[in-house]
Amino acid sequence: MRKIQVAITIRSFNKNNLSRETFIKRCEVSFINATSRRLTENELIQALEGADAVIAGTEHFGKKIFTACPGLKVISRVGVGVDNIDIEAAQKNHVVVLTTPEAPVQAVAEHTIALLLSLMKHIPMYNENMRNGNYCVKPGFLLCGKTVGIVGMGRIGKKVASYLDGFGCQILYYDPFVQTVIPESWERVEDLENLMRRSDILSLHTPPKPDGSPIITSELIDCSRRGLIIINTSRGSVLDEQALMNGLDSGVISGAGLDVFSVEPYAGSLLKYPQVIVTPHVSSNTTQSRDQMETDAMDNLLKVITGVEE
Ligand code: 8YV
Repeated sequence: MRKIQVAITIRSFNKNNLSRETFIKRCEVSFINATSRRLTENELIQALEGADAVIAGTEHFGKKIFTACPGLKVISRVGVGVDNIDIEAAQKNHVVVLTTPEAPVQAVAEHTIALLLSLMKHIPMYNENMRNGNYCVKPGFLLCGKTVGIVGMGRIGKKVASYLDGFGCQILYYDPFVQTVIPESWERVEDLENLMRRSDILSLHTPPKPDGSPIITSELIDCSRRGLIIINTSRGSVLDEQALMNGLDSGVISGAGLDVFSVEPYAGSLLKYPQVIVTPHVSSNTTQSRDQMETDAMDNLLKVITGVEE
């Protein structure tokens, strides 16, 4: 039986996961990304030559990919977001798009809390200062007692809220599409303006808008409670970065913890702000979660493509 040709285009992948018996039996790896960075469109087209399926990261799958790669049947994402894929073009070309919604939850939620605590306790500053012989002190803040506004009460938002609840925070949330059962003590807020006015901390856990325009706009930042802290582990375009910088300059925003950016890899002006701490889109990147995400992506692909082929 002809083996399913699988291209692995994601920027990092644990090769040990490829030894899974179920995978080896049916699949052959036709390409593996060894660049440690996101592939360009042309590199992606070359990588997908002869591939039936792809295990994908956040590289961009635009219209051109689908016309250039007619043999492609499945895009299996290692991750939950599909904003990097032209879904309409995928559907038109009968390409099935799969995701791993459960596996990143724990890691992203923990990373969100790590960014928040690092900011509130000035940990990056102390870490740098001590190495330079600087022992100055600056009071940190308690998380306990703070009001946190969660935007997007999906799997990750809910996990983050439950941790913050444990820290003694008051939980407000905005989510017009909420589908799960939410604890009674968490308050649903009907509009973002109100959420911004009432929150000390804002944590973003929503998919981006399809047109890439921000959800947290400059108007919203202008009406936020003075000293607001913003944490973004969702997608860069959700937050207007220029508006964030204006808010930091005026003191309306006191700090931000960012794992995602409008352009990645990010090298922009937000890096000049000491009250902004950053990580390079790695919130799901714990060994355990990544292995789970990768094996889920392989299993998803197998389930679907065996159906497609029969
Ligand atoms: C991954 C993510 O790092 O789940 C997502 O959509 O952004 C992250 O968890 C990314 O998908 C790379 O695979």
